[in-house]
Amino acid sequence: MNVTPAQRIDALRRQLASANAAYNERDELLIPDADYDALMRELEALEQAHPELSTVDSPTTKVGARPSSRFTEVTHAVPMLSLGNAFSDEEVADFVRRISERLRRPEVAFSAEPKLDGLAISLRYEGGRFVQGATRGDGSKGEDVTANLRQIGDIPHQLQGAGWPAVLEVRGEVYMARADFEAFNERARQQGGKVLANPRNAAAGSLRQLDPKISAQRRLSFFAYGTGQVEGGELPDTHSRTLQQLRGWGFPVSELCAVVTGTQGLLAYYRDIGERRDGLAFDIDGVVYKLDDREGQQAMGFVARAPRWAIAHKFPAQEQSTTVEAIEIQIGRTGAATPVARLAPVAVAGVIVSNATLHNADQIARLDVRVGDSVIVRRAGDVIPEVVSVIADRRPAGTMPWKMPTHCPVCGAEIVQEEGAIAWRCSGELSCPAQRKEAISHFASRRAMDIDGLGGKYIETLVDAGIVRGVADLYRLSRDTLLQLKLVLDAEDPSALAASFSPHLPPDGSGAVLAAVLKLDAGDPGWRAQALAQPITFSWNTKKIATRWADNLVAAIEASRDATLERLLFALGIEHVGESTAKALAQWFGELELIRHLPWPLFKRVPDIGGEVARSLGHFFEQQGNQQAIDDLLQVGQVRITDEHPPSAKLREGLDLAQLLVEAEIPGITRLRAEKLAAALSSAPSILDAEHGQFVNAGLPDDTARGLAAWLDTEGHGELLLQAEAKMKQILQRAPQQAEQAGGPLDGQTAVLTGTLSALTRDVAKERLEALGAKVAGSVSKKTSFVVAGTEAGSKLDKAQSLGVPVWDEDQLLAFLAAHE
Ligand code: IVH
Repeated sequence: MNVTPAQRIDALRRQLASANAAYNERDELLIPDADYDALMRELEALEQAHPELSTVDSPTTKVGARPSSRFTEVTHAVPMLSLGNAFSDEEVADFVRRISERLRRPEVAFSAEPKLDGLAISLRYEGGRFVQGATRGDGSKGEDVTANLRQIGDIPHQLQGAGWPAVLEVRGEVYMARADFEAFNERARQQGGKVLANPRNAAAGSLRQLDPKISAQRRLSFFAYGTGQVEGGELPDTHSRTLQQLRGWGFPVSELCAVVTGTQGLLAYYRDIGERRDGLAFDIDGVVYKLDDREGQQAMGFVARAPRWAIAHKFPAQEQSTTVEAIEIQIGRTGAATPVARLAPVAVAGVIVSNATLHNADQIARLDVRVGDSVIVRRAGDVIPEVVSVIADRRPAGTMPWKMPTHCPVCGAEIVQEEGAIAWRCSGELSCPAQRKEAISHFASRRAMDIDGLGGKYIETLVDAGIVRGVADLYRLSRDTLLQLKLVLDAEDPSALAASFSPHLPPDGSGAVLAAVLKLDAGDPGWRAQALAQPITFSWNTKKIATRWADNLVAAIEASRDATLERLLFALGIEHVGESTAKALAQWFGELELIRHLPWPLFKRVPDIGGEVARSLGHFFEQQGNQQAIDDLLQVGQVRITDEHPPSAKLREGLDLAQLLVEAEIPGITRLRAEKLAAALSSAPSILDAEHGQFVNAGLPDDTARGLAAWLDTEGHGELLLQAEAKMKQILQRAPQQAEQAGGPLDGQTAVLTGTLSALTRDVAKERLEALGAKVAGSVSKKTSFVVAGTEAGSKLDKAQSLGVPVWDEDQLLAFLAAHE
């Protein structure tokens, strides 16, 4: 069936009008930006080709939608316009040519700026005071959102400096920074609230809340990019100087604004900002070029909805539509089951995306994403691509709502949802290969045991092939195994490799089987193991590279055997135990033996460790498999902890039975009640032998006493308390009476490091000197106790010599450290 231009124009106008209304009135995205732009361009082209079909109310002539009636209407004294778009270098060149010809100037200067993806706002200042702020609305009338704008820290209530016009309208973009957007959504997801689609929607939705308190809770920001009405005063005669002036009066203006000349200047700016786009703190959807001098702007004038002196040069869209081919779950290190959408590959902001996170089952339910759906995916900055919404009217017939599978696709263990938690997890723990791979990867990572070179694909194969089952197995890896692994996995030409395997191929003899094995993403793990077991012949160079890798890896594994307690604790990958918690645990408890057998309430003795982290630690060490893994590390892996010490004296403070009762989180047991209980029971052999009556006698209300008796009767609780009490006594015996004095051999001395050291970095040298009590300073003075001079030491060494400060060379330093550490 043929569609006439008139019919097509009509269809396009309807589609664009409803998308506009949804976007502007309800902050809803009906079609992705890229599709919207394409439809708009198609309509513009058709209207140009068929001027007889143009109408005054076509979406091509409109800026946005009419203001909604919820807010008071504001008439803009100077209309708020939109911008024309350029998508290619040629369109930018055309833009420059038009201006250059019209103004008869060979060289034209432009203000080049990032195009922020937020909401256009006009701020009115009278006598320097902020009196009214409005949205763009339809360009001539907007909504009065003054109260909400007053909540934005970036917007000055009173202008700074002096010399501002009596009436000044400042225009700019309200936006939500990426970090604020992520934080907002993370909170919403946890609380089961409404998740916002993208920072633009977030900014628009927040600003158009009727209750300014709600909008205050969402952190919005502002950048100024222009002015509206100006009366009773003058602004500089170029746009760029005006922006500088606005900065002086207290408005944030993007640091990325620049003045550039000619087409080449504009394109270089576009590419430069494009490269920096992912690293910015906020979303941009392009850059804007504005003729810099105001006189020229006036000469150029306007077309229907945009100035002729400015244009937006768009980046590839950060949102695109595609279809969901499957929804799978991925199992993380701690077993968290995260649903992931497998997508028909689509280019989003220059990167091909074929997977996107769906966060959790709640999120899928909220969005109602189904296999077969057309969805909008978004990729911004370093954030993992995510599914933003479903395009409801493109849903095919026969789709089914998605359900979390009952069993882990990797190990078959049940998938469970913890009480009160949103996340589901695989209950297979370390018997689940997916969790095992993640755990091993974490163990080897730089901030953990720092086994450099052992990337994900090697771990994957080692686990699949059954060579590495737990972290301790890493310490059993031979150089030969690693060499084979590398040669097989990095083989550039799997078919040649397959030929050398031919005697070992399955009966059908197909090289494809081995090729699949070698490609890692497919194939039978058993075959991988066999492949690893075969001696293969390789070119000298390939072998050299692989040998170097294997040697380095063996050295890294060897070096990782000497670990600080803090690193080892972090490396174990205990849920909720990050580096700072690991450090605190090491400082407070000092020894792995103590920590790995500690009843969980005692972990709460460490400031910053609350119930959740303490329970997680307790849970981890309760698992037989985890204890076995630690034993293996120490025995088989011969991992040695280098910095163990007795528990800290700080543990003593407030460590008594009362505190223990509080920290065990027994319902109704407050600090005061715990103290009464502890006092009353001090002569009893154990709290376990006490009964309800004694609790009442100790001053507990009847129901709390009953609750306590019931709690103690619950399996595991009594034992937990007994163990905790015993451990507490042990700690009290072992921890020194008072905080140990620094007492190092370099106490009170100041050292200065200069030049290059060869056996250790300056940072490490500094750390080690400090550990012995020295202060390490940056410059040499009379007070300096000694200077450590490496090779190529310069002025500091000269100064030390002229002041008569002792100078050590690297060997002296190493000898001193060796003698005192
Ligand atoms: S100037 C008369 N400069 O883009 C010129 N707009 O597509 C009016 N925008 O409504 C706009 N960053 O919401 C200008 N540096 C910038 C901008 C910018 C973002 C937005 C603004 C405007 C829309 C036009």
